[in-house]
Amino acid sequence: MALPQRVFSGVQPTGNLHLGNYLGAITRFVELQDSYDCIYCVVDLHAITVPLSVWGGPEGLRTATRQVTAAFIASGIDPERHIVFNQSQVGEHAELAWVFNCVARLGWLSRMTQFKEKAGKDRENASVGLFAYPNLMAADILVYRATHVPVGEDQKQHLELARDIAAKFNHDFAESIAANGHGEAFFPLTEPLITGPATRVMSLRDGTKKMSKSDSSDYSRINLTDDADTIALKFRKARTDPEPLPTEIDGLADRPEASNLVGIFAALTGRSTDDVLAEFSGPFSRFKEVLVEAAVSKLSPINAEMRRLMSEPDQIDAILTKGAERAQAIARPNMDAVKDIVGLLRR
Ligand code: AMP
Ligand code: TRP
Repeated sequence: MALPQRVFSGVQPTGNLHLGNYLGAITRFVELQDSYDCIYCVVDLHAITVPLSVWGGPEGLRTATRQVTAAFIASGIDPERHIVFNQSQVGEHAELAWVFNCVARLGWLSRMTQFKEKAGKDRENASVGLFAYPNLMAADILVYRATHVPVGEDQKQHLELARDIAAKFNHDFAESIAANGHGEAFFPLTEPLITGPATRVMSLRDGTKKMSKSDSSDYSRINLTDDADTIALKFRKARTDPEPLPTEIDGLADRPEASNLVGIFAALTGRSTDDVLAEFSGPFSRFKEVLVEAAVSKLSPINAEMRRLMSEPDQIDAILTKGAERAQAIARPNMDAVKDIVGLLRR
């Protein structure tokens, strides 16, 4: 029996949601709603893998979880038609992650570049959770047996690991999977969906670094909570090179800042890079004005709606709880099947 085509993705509630999250992930989440059953998750258990001072402590975590939820809804995700919830409310994620801790190999996790970056030089002092992070991410996806995962470019390696885990589980337990009536494979090999002009939005201060929640300079990113004046100021200050914008894509080679701004504009307006250059080649100052206009007209309504939603936290919490119940109705039978396959007795 073919499994349903199901989309799953997650966003961490840490720090500021920015234009990279919006263009690389959230706008894609919105588009996919018409073609798939979608599950969108605020991954609070992933947030606590970094030091408490980074994720902001209990009150900071609660606020950030609500804020990501508000951003989802304000951007056009429909929590009635699809499922929106926070990870920790569905215990099956952590339960399956434990099984995956026993499937994934130390060597696989040691190769994860995000762990190396986040752990930095002081690796001995990184949490065990940070190391096992990709196993929990695989569990997030596979506890729903999701088939497609929209993410930005930076998550590609983690998704490859999720496929490796699914394949090893299917292989190691092949006999039991068949004996339990699941045919040849229990978990799907999930397809990453990494497409569009903005899978890797770069910092406004340095076109070789990705735009990130954790960059110490707020001028490096456009936050979804920035007002129109702040957006304008940040784009005006954004680093560029002294050359004008070229007429063709070839002219963007080795010009990371120029490429980034053109990519952002293309993504915001749904136009191709060729088209954008054909119209706006010439001085940066003129291009930056239209860029500001495009960003403000896209982000202002989202910003206003986020504020409105955040003024009623109880309603956000109610959406998350209802979403968690619906998510669990899918996750629990899958987790029970995993228990049967592995040989864990259950009620
Ligand atoms: P995170 O904030 O790390 O939870 O990321 C949430 C989603 O946004 C993931 O799908 C990331 O791949 C995506 N993302 C994060 N930063 C960027 C960026 N600079 N450009 C494009 N996508 C991004
Ligand atoms: N690791 C992802 C990020 O930092 C967030 C995430 C957690 C996720 N679980 C996921 C993304 C499952 C896709 C699917 O962006």
